[in-house]
Amino acid sequence: MPDTTLAFFVDLEPAVADFQESVIEGLSKTPKQLACKFFYDEVGLDLFGKICETEEYYVTRTELALMRQIGPELAELAGPQRTVIELGSGSDLKIRLLLDALTAPAQYVPIDISPAHLRASAEAVASDYPETRVGAVCADFTAPLSIPADAIEVTDGARLGYFPGSTIGNLTPMEAESFLRGLHPLLGPNGALLIGVDLRKDTGRLNRAYNDAAGYTAAFNLNILHRIAGELDSSIDPAVFEHYAFYNEAEGRIEMHLRSKHQQIIRVGESRFELVADELIHTENSYKYSLDGFAALAASAGYRSVARWTDAEDFFSIHYLTVAA
Ligand code: AVJ
Repeated sequence: MPDTTLAFFVDLEPAVADFQESVIEGLSKTPKQLACKFFYDEVGLDLFGKICETEEYYVTRTELALMRQIGPELAELAGPQRTVIELGSGSDLKIRLLLDALTAPAQYVPIDISPAHLRASAEAVASDYPETRVGAVCADFTAPLSIPADAIEVTDGARLGYFPGSTIGNLTPMEAESFLRGLHPLLGPNGALLIGVDLRKDTGRLNRAYNDAAGYTAAFNLNILHRIAGELDSSIDPAVFEHYAFYNEAEGRIEMHLRSKHQQIIRVGESRFELVADELIHTENSYKYSLDGFAALAASAGYRSVARWTDAEDFFSIHYLTVAA
């Protein structure tokens, strides 16, 4: 499909070689790990969509309901002619709610690692919001400084970063602080950041959210092994692993792992890795914050907390931050 509806499409997507290199690097560590950004190929995105529809995974539905509720306040805070830069554009439902709420958004620039999904959803937004200039950047959004400076047009309105879904929870608090601080140049003068952050809550509910009965989270976790088996030169057999996720109370995070069902040796490229029975490969952290804990993190990353909202059950929060002068 020609991308005639997009002002630009910058493809900085890392090559297969980077995937293999990252897998070998992660499996060489103790404990072994794999980077969660590799969950999101087309199959993984589809599975993530299914997770979001499960009864157990309260995250997406709670955030969507909150976004619907706070629209008028957001419009007031952000003002007209914003350039909205979305980091890790997931469901295009959320960005539509934001664009609908804002007054005459000038530009929309999603940054995401999955090229086909990114292009399709950016084009759909472009055709539904003809007054908004839409251009996309395919990149790992945790490296925002790689975005070509001239890709995003300079307009009268300031920039508004949008980082929904509690994706910030994939980073450790230390990484999160430096990532948020690193966004300042991208957000520019009078820049603001709208960010969704999942909150600490009952351990049982958290554990259920990452162990849904239909098994979508398990399939999502195992998908990273299917990708290695399918895309890389590797002997890995996903059937010899199982999904393991739990809330680590001391760290305040959900941890996802892949557990080796028995002793085995796996090969990736020229490298061989031995796993003992029940050995874990760490695939994801999903940190849960207290409201004050996140506010403190944002402050130490150089933001002023202008407004924050939570749902009635305090499951999820959305924060409107401005870059502190
Ligand atoms: C999209 C990263 C926010 O951490 O809750 C869902 C991903 N992992 N179920 C999360 C995920 C397992 C999700 N994020």
